[in-house]
Formats: sequence, C-alpha cells, structure tokens
Amino acid sequence: MENKRPVWTSKYAFIVTAVGSAVGLGNIWRFPYVMGQNGGAIFLAVYILLISTICFIPLMNELYIGKLTKKECVGAYESINPKFKFLGILNPVTGILIAAFYFIVGGWIINYICKSFVNAQIVDYGEYFSSFIQLPFHPCVLTLVFLFICIFFAARGLKNGIEKANKFLMPLLAVILVFLVIVSLNLPNASAGLEYMFKPDFSKLNSHMVLAALGQAFFTLSIGMGALLTYGSYIEEDKNLTKSVYTIILSDTAFALLAGIMIFPAVFSFGLQPDSGAGLVFVTLPKIFSQIPCGNWVSFAFFVLLFSAAVTSGISVVEGPCATIIEQFKISRIKACTFLFILISVIAVPATLSFGLLSNIKIFDKSIFDFLDFLTSNIMLPMNALFLCLISGWYLKLKGKDIIKNKLFSVCFDVGLKYIVPFALICLMIAGLK
Ligand code: PHE
Repeated sequence: MENKRPVWTSKYAFIVTAVGSAVGLGNIWRFPYVMGQNGGAIFLAVYILLISTICFIPLMNELYIGKLTKKECVGAYESINPKFKFLGILNPVTGILIAAFYFIVGGWIINYICKSFVNAQIVDYGEYFSSFIQLPFHPCVLTLVFLFICIFFAARGLKNGIEKANKFLMPLLAVILVFLVIVSLNLPNASAGLEYMFKPDFSKLNSHMVLAALGQAFFTLSIGMGALLTYGSYIEEDKNLTKSVYTIILSDTAFALLAGIMIFPAVFSFGLQPDSGAGLVFVTLPKIFSQIPCGNWVSFAFFVLLFSAAVTSGISVVEGPCATIIEQFKISRIKACTFLFILISVIAVPATLSFGLLSNIKIFDKSIFDFLDFLTSNIMLPMNALFLCLISGWYLKLKGKDIIKNKLFSVCFDVGLKYIVPFALICLMIAGLK
C-alpha cells in the first residue's frame, strides 16, 4: 500500500507545530530548575548566547535535510548514502526511548490536574509526591493515558491531528502563561525573584555551567531525534527557512523566560529555594499554590499549561518514529500508531515502576527512568545531532550560501557546521558521560 506523504497546510501550521515541539517540559519544568541550580542570571545570559548562535546551525540543518530529502529519518539518511541507514535508525530509537520517560512526567501532570480540580488538601507536598510516584498502579495508568493522547493526535494525521492540536494548545499555553506571570508578579516581594533571574553574578561562570546551558538549549529545541527532520520533510516550499528557524528559537526562548518569570518571583516571595531540582514544579510550586487565594484554580491553570506543553512536544516525539514505521514498512498510520503504542508501553511501564516496585533494578547504577533520561539526553540526542552535522558538512558538503541569503550568516554556518558545532556536541557528550 502506497501512502501519500502529507504536507503542511500553511507556513503558520509548520511554525506553530515546530514551536510546539520545542516548547515542552524542557522550558517549563527543566529550564527553571537547571537555571536555579546554575546561578540564575549568568546562566540565562550564556543560554541566550548559545541558543541564538551555536544551536541555530543543527536546527537549520535538521529541518533542511528533511526538506531536501522529503523522507522520514531512515529514508533520509539512506537516500544520502545507504551505508548511513543505521545512523538514521538511531533517530526513531531515540524518540521511542525519550517517549518512555517523558510521558511518565506527562502522567504525573494529569494526576496534579485532577488533584487541583477536586481541590485535594495535601499536608506535606514532598511526602505526597514521593509516595505518589512509588505507587504501582496509578502512575502507570496515567502514563498510558498520556501516551494514548499523544498517539491519538499522531494517528489522526498531520492536518487533522497534529496541526489541529498545536493550533489549539499553543495559543492556550501562551494565554495561561501570561495570566500566571501576572499572578506571580503581583505576589509580595516578587522583585527578589526578578533580581535573581536578571542580575548576573559573574563568579558563577564556569565550564560546567556553560555545558549545562548548551545541553538545555539542545534539549529544548528537540534537536537530535529526527522530529524536526520529519517536520522539515513536510515542507513543500519555504523561501526563508532562516527566518522560520529564528522564529522557532525566539518563541522557545520567550516561553522559557516567561516560565522563569512565572516561577522565580513566586518561589522567592514564599522564601523557598529556587534550586530544588526536579521537584520544583511538583513540590515547591504546589506548596505555594496552597497558600494563595483561589490557589487550586491557579494550580489547575498551571498544570493545564504544563500538560499542553508536554502534549505538543509528545506529539513530535511520536511523529518521528511513526513516519518511519509508515514509510519503511508501508503500513497505514493507524497500524503504525497502534504498534508504537504497544512498543512504547512495554518500555514506559517498567520505567514508571522504577520509582517503586522495580526500584532495585539498576542499569549502570541508575534506575530505569534515570537511565533512559541519561542515555537519551546526554548521549543519544547529541550523538544523532553530531552525525547529521558531520554528514551535511563533510559528506554532502552542504554550503550555507545555498540555504542562507545573508553572506556573513552563511559563512558562520559553514564554519559552525563543520567545526564548532561538532566540537560543542563532543564536549557535551563527554561531560554527559561523567
Ligand atoms: N523540546 C522538548 C521540551 O523542551 C523535549 C523534546 C526533546 C521533544 C527532544 C522532542 C525531542 O520539552
């Protein structure tokens, strides 16, 4: 059976969906806590510098290779050289492994939406969170519900599922975010949080922090798992891909900044610590919500925001492997999605249980969840991005002047693609291995 390849219905649809992929838990959950652990404002300055320069290149590269080959990951690599097929396969594999841990957090979010809705009274949020994630049944079911939602949109196809979900959820996300920023800025002593975010402390500048900023920038832009390559392959014509790429980077950064402006003033206003790590949004923030007027509704809005961000990214995580299965095995989208649902569940369920029932199973001294996060974020994403840059720069000899109008930009692109970005990615992988 021959499936006709889908194409974007408009440029807006492409951009909003690519921004939807970029803006996710990485912006709202990960960015504030990584920033909190790495010194606040100085981290932000380095992050903005890196995301607007070094990260532009692999992002442009991935979208362009998709647009050029008009194939999903495996087909795209294969059409460049059949010997590269194996490298192509690593992309959907990364996607499936990311899905298996990213969607667990999606399940936690659904739980918090329900708890806020029924205005559940929780005494100790730290205790509640750690005992909830250890439960054998609830988190698994919610992970599968979250997985089902993302797969459902992918199964409906590009126009009726993926585009529609993004066109609805992304504006919703923006509206809720602005509302919560206003709530947060009106809390007493909110300025302390802003000062923390925007007043740089140069003593915190070190190589570890620069690598954390680089890693965060790559993760948040969804570089290195073929989602963008697949989205790029649905572009029929884009006369100014540079502009589209900058729109994606700018929007993603704006969402991350607003997430910081929403979180830090609230955290400082209540005298809490900004560097509490992954528990920041599941422990620290609910504690704050419980102390403000109409807190359960603010909490509800916050977790719906987090949910929207996670779903739009989750859709992109499944679309890469989904397109590969459809085109490589020539099966229908529905069949491919059903298969993917089963495959991801088989990995995600043990990963969900790794906080409780299966906590004694260790891979390289890490729980299954931590191992999947480590393997994908620290190794596979930078590695896939590295291979694609090397293929484009050294094998295809891709030239900036063929894709970028501005002369200076195109020269920077050439040097970056061949030398700077591969070097940065190798540093990131070495640092990530530690
Ligand atoms: N960019 C997404 C986020 O910020 C996460 C993601 C990573 C999605 C890699 C797809 C691929 O949450």
